[in-house]
Amino acid sequence: MKIEYSKPPHPREHRLIFKNVDRVGWDPSIECYINEGGYDDLKKALKMEPSKITEEVKQSGLRGRGGAGFPTGMKWTFIPPNNTKPVYLICNCDESEPGTFKDRYIVHQDPHQLIEGMIISAYAVGANTAFIYMREEFPEAAIICEKAIEDARAKGFLGKDILGTGFDLEIYVHRGAAAYICGEETGLIESLEGKRPYPRIKPPYFPAALGLYMCPTIVNNVESLCHVKHIIRMGGDEYAKLGKPRNTGTRILCVSGDVKNPGYFEIEVGKLTMRELLYEVCGGPKDGREFKAVIPGGSSSKILRCDEVFKLKNPDNSEKDLSFWDIALDFDSLAACGSMAGSGGVIVMDDSRSMSWVLNNINAFYAHESCGQCTPCREGSSWMKKISDRLVEGKASAEDLETLEQVAYQIDGRTICAFGEASSWPVEAIIAKFREELLEDTSESNSGVAHNPEAEAQRRFLIDHDSFPA
Ligand SMILES: Cc1cc2nc3c(=O)[nH]c(=O)nc-3n(C[C@H](O)[C@H](O)[C@H](O)COP(=O)(O)O)c2cc1C
Ligand code: SF4
Repeated sequence: MKIEYSKPPHPREHRLIFKNVDRVGWDPSIECYINEGGYDDLKKALKMEPSKITEEVKQSGLRGRGGAGFPTGMKWTFIPPNNTKPVYLICNCDESEPGTFKDRYIVHQDPHQLIEGMIISAYAVGANTAFIYMREEFPEAAIICEKAIEDARAKGFLGKDILGTGFDLEIYVHRGAAAYICGEETGLIESLEGKRPYPRIKPPYFPAALGLYMCPTIVNNVESLCHVKHIIRMGGDEYAKLGKPRNTGTRILCVSGDVKNPGYFEIEVGKLTMRELLYEVCGGPKDGREFKAVIPGGSSSKILRCDEVFKLKNPDNSEKDLSFWDIALDFDSLAACGSMAGSGGVIVMDDSRSMSWVLNNINAFYAHESCGQCTPCREGSSWMKKISDRLVEGKASAEDLETLEQVAYQIDGRTICAFGEASSWPVEAIIAKFREELLEDTSESNSGVAHNPEAEAQRRFLIDHDSFPA
């Protein structure tokens, strides 16, 4: 059957998770979902042993799509084997990483795909209670998911004795607290417990052992949980044929910024290079512009220059050159180039962008979002913003840049949660890769960004929209 879309996918896409997004005649109702074989994968899964499901997920090679790219099946096996406490499953629908806009389309347009994935996953890990932690700013999605849960319950897919198998599961939607840190899994858990979302220190608080109410808890991203139902349908081995070894399946890339056709694109992991994504899929740079830099996995991933050439090691330890344009879009290739695939948020900048402004924009976000629990992050993120405020005003000295770099390195690796790295890595990378350009904006130079009308307008916009005290 040919599927029609209101916004047709690019021919290089492989739609698995986004099969029904923008689909003509599709709606989020359970009837629509069941007409297309919805919940058949659940019926298949409930005939399997829970451990066999985990085995299939391990076999599939699925890596988490929330940011860290941790293998999903392996995470599930971290629940202590002799556990006697309740186990919880949490779907992380906080989607707070700047540049990322994929989970919201799943919960708005195809909520039953997520619920089916969650029921199968809960059955696999032995959870009888599950939560969808919904970003506060997605009020409509919360209503859609609550309706979907009610309808799934009415059909016997949720509640007691699901489909006569003896398995019980309740799913609750929990509205978030409108803070970036609520997306960090232990901050999320604290928030779900009704507290401030202060992240917990790991060890000992690895959620799979000591999570919600100090019970074993599996936290997975929306997209990761959706993949589980496809793994059950296809089988782990078949699923693993999508993408590349260690980088399997499909993933949704969210491309924003200076390209002709921004948007979401579901691709086989690692099957496209940067060049193919930016020129073929996204239509190239805007007229009269050239690509300058790309943040490949959400704002916390390290920036890549479009003219960079990376020295990589071959298996025999010899070296090879890899140009930015030839980087394959997968977890391992981006890590080898010093950045990460993260949450799939690809932010593209062309030669009209001032890197001082980019730096300041990112710093403003992290200074605003630090939970304030640890000193290096609380003070450091605010110092970094203040220094880059001066930089965009043309008032920072070259020494200020050195201080900025030092502050970033003093945060990195010295905090309770990975927000420390999320805020310091962009600074470290932008300074290392664009030092000359930033120096041109210092007070010692005559060409401060304050003299650049576009950058000045961007700066004013930032000041007007930023509630952070100066
Ligand atoms: C500061 C911070 C913010 C995060 N925000 C999100 C988020 O919005 N959504 C998400 O799925 N994961 C987010 N994560 C990652 C989660 O902590 C966790 O690793 C993820 O939900 C696990 O799911 P996965 O294994 O399926 O990727 C964030 C991590 C950090 C450090
Ligand atoms: S690193 Fe930052 S966000 Fe994370 S716990 Fe410390 S202060 Fe909070």
